Amino acid sequence: MPNRTGGAFFTSQRPLEASALRSSAMAKGSTPWCSPVVRVKQIEEQLVTLRTSLICAFNQLLDLKDLNTGVHSTRLAEWAIHVASELGLEEPALADIEVSALLHDIGKVGIPDAILNKPARLTPEEYELMKKHPEYGWAVLHQVPGFQQASLLILHHHESYDGKGYPGGLRGDEIPIGSRIVSVIDAFDAMVSSRPYRTGLPLEEAVRRLTEASGTQFDPSVVKIFLPLAEAEMPSVFAAAGTSISAAL
Ligand SMILES: [Fe+2]
Repeated sequence: MPNRTGGAFFTSQRPLEASALRSSAMAKGSTPWCSPVVRVKQIEEQLVTLRTSLICAFNQLLDLKDLNTGVHSTRLAEWAIHVASELGLEEPALADIEVSALLHDIGKVGIPDAILNKPARLTPEEYELMKKHPEYGWAVLHQVPGFQQASLLILHHHESYDGKGYPGGLRGDEIPIGSRIVSVIDAFDAMVSSRPYRTGLPLEEAVRRLTEASGTQFDPSVVKIFLPLAEAEMPSVFAAAGTSISAAL
């Protein structure tokens, strides 16, 4: 299946090759190629490849469920990394935030299509089911070595800064900073994106709503950093999509 997501995160899909590990082990200690330093470097490269392949595979799963929109998730990840860096975060936190931005809605694969694609307001029962997706996402990703921290960020990406979110009802700094970042960026992206049953909001209206909810739903420090970035980049995002801000209104 072709990879629709594109971008730097998905350029390598070479699987971890057991045969390469075996041949490398057989020659252990005999040449500089197999020195401990080289061996460690090999293993590190293979782990990076495996990690990238897993992210790609999960993204394609989202594609199968029609939950990704091409460069959408890559753009969210780039914005999330930008905001996190501006807030002073460094590796390995940045890598976890990148994964959580890319895969924050992976749990929606567990939500029935009739609810996901319903062209109308959800009933209270349907909404309760939809609210399970952060827990579903955590349940999947926390089993993957190296993705445990990212799975926690996914678990809390619908918490609200004032404690009125879900699933934990966490408030303020109790919410992981990566989750607070994804929350703002995801909400903004949802507001400006068009869906089959509604047209995306004008940029100015999305900015107004984000500003209005700063300090209640959203972390004000995240909103403060994100808004100038969004206002600067949205024209090029619309242009890249072959449309314009006015066309998206
Ligand atoms: Fe979500």
